[in-house]
Amino acid sequence: MLASCFRRRLDLLTPGRRLVSTAANASASTSTRRKRVVFSGIQPTGIPHLGNYLGALSNWKRLQDEAAPEDVLIFSVVGWHALTMPQNPAELRQARASMMAVLLAMGLDPRRSVIFHQDHNPDHTELAWVFNCITPIGKLRRMTTWKSKLVTARNANDETEVDESLLHVGLFDYPVLQAADILAYKATHVPVGEDQQQHLELCRDIADSFNRTFKERSPLFPLPQHVFTPQKRILSLRDSSAKMSKSAPDPKSRILLTDTTSEISKKIAGAQTDSDPSVTYDPVSRPGLANLLTIFAACTETSPEDLARKYDGSSFAKLKKDAAEAVNAFLSGPRAEFAKLKDETGYLDEIARTGAEKARDISGKTMSEVRRRVGLA
Ligand code: TYM
Repeated sequence: MLASCFRRRLDLLTPGRRLVSTAANASASTSTRRKRVVFSGIQPTGIPHLGNYLGALSNWKRLQDEAAPEDVLIFSVVGWHALTMPQNPAELRQARASMMAVLLAMGLDPRRSVIFHQDHNPDHTELAWVFNCITPIGKLRRMTTWKSKLVTARNANDETEVDESLLHVGLFDYPVLQAADILAYKATHVPVGEDQQQHLELCRDIADSFNRTFKERSPLFPLPQHVFTPQKRILSLRDSSAKMSKSAPDPKSRILLTDTTSEISKKIAGAQTDSDPSVTYDPVSRPGLANLLTIFAACTETSPEDLARKYDGSSFAKLKKDAAEAVNAFLSGPRAEFAKLKDETGYLDEIARTGAEKARDISGKTMSEVRRRVGLA
C-alpha cells in the first residue's frame, strides 16, 4: 500500500519541468568540471513565499535538473534552526511536514536528491559543537541575522535598540550550525538568497580554520561557494526597504506558494510603487516598481528591462493586473501539487526517513574523519 502510494507520487513528479528562469552561473559543462556536492536548507516556519521560491528554491530545482551524474544534491528542512526563535510546537510539527510536501511539489525528486529533516541527523549538531570550539565569538557578533531577528521579534525600531540580554545562545550560534549543515556533506555549492551571503562567508572561514588547525596532507573541507539566482533579494510588497520575509507582521507583504488567485491579485494590487507614472526598471531609485518587474519577469522568463519597455505608457493598474496573472500561472502547478501531497503523511514520512538514511551515510564518513583529526578517535 505504502509502496504503491510512493510509486504513484514519484510518477506525479515531473523532474524536467522548468519553473523559473535563473542565471547560467552554475550551468554544467560536465566534461571539464569537478563533482559538485550541493547543499541547502530551509526553515519550517510556514509556507515558503515568492522570495524563498525565486531567490533560492528555484535554484535547488535547477541544480537538480542540470546535475551531472556524479553530482550529489542534498536538501534539508532545518528544524533545529527554527527552534532559535520561539515556536508553537503543534504549528512547528505541522510546518515541518508541510515543508517536505512543498519541496516535492516544486519538483525536487527524491530519486535524485537527498531530501530530509535536519533533526533526523545528529551529525549536524555534533559537528556544530566541534566548530563552536574553533569559532571566535567576535565573528558571530558581527553577523547581522541575530540582530535583525531580535529587532523583528521585539518590535524595536532598529539594531541600536536590540536588547542583548534577550539573546539566546542558539540564535547567536545559528551560523555555526549552518556551517555544520553544509560541511557535514563537504558541500561545494550552496544555493541561497542574498541574505545568507554573510553566513556562507563564515562557513568558509570555519572550514579554513578547521583545515589549518587540524592540518594533514590534504584539507578536510572544501570552501563552499554560494549560488544565487537573478532574483536573489525579493523585497516586501509593502516596504521596499525590507526583504520579503516570513516573519514580517503584515501578511500582505508576501505572496505564499499556497495563496489563492484572488489573494495574489489583491496583494499585487496593493504592492508599493511610486508617484512617477512612467514604467522604468531602476532598482536604486524605484525599488518597489523594480521589485514588481523582477517578480513578473521571473514568472514569465523575460527580463525586467524588457517588461519596463513593454509597459511604459501603460497604467500601474494594468501592469499589476498582468503581473498578478503571471504569478498566478507560475504558482498554479506547485500549488496544485502541494494540495495533493500535503496530507499524505505516510508518503512524506517515508521520503523523510529514506532521505535521512542517505544523509547519515554521507555525513557519517565526514564525522569519522573529524573525530580522528581532532583526537576523539
Ligand atoms: P530561510 O528559511 O530563511 O530561507 C530559505 C531560503 O530563501 C532565501 N530567501 C530569499 N531569497 C530572496 N529574497 C527573499 N526575500 C528571501 N527570503 C529568504 C534564503 O536566502 C534561503 O536561501 N539560514 C537559512 C537556512 C539554512 C541553510 C543552511 C541554508 C540552514 N542551514 C545551510 C543553506 C545552507 C535560512 O534561514 O533560510
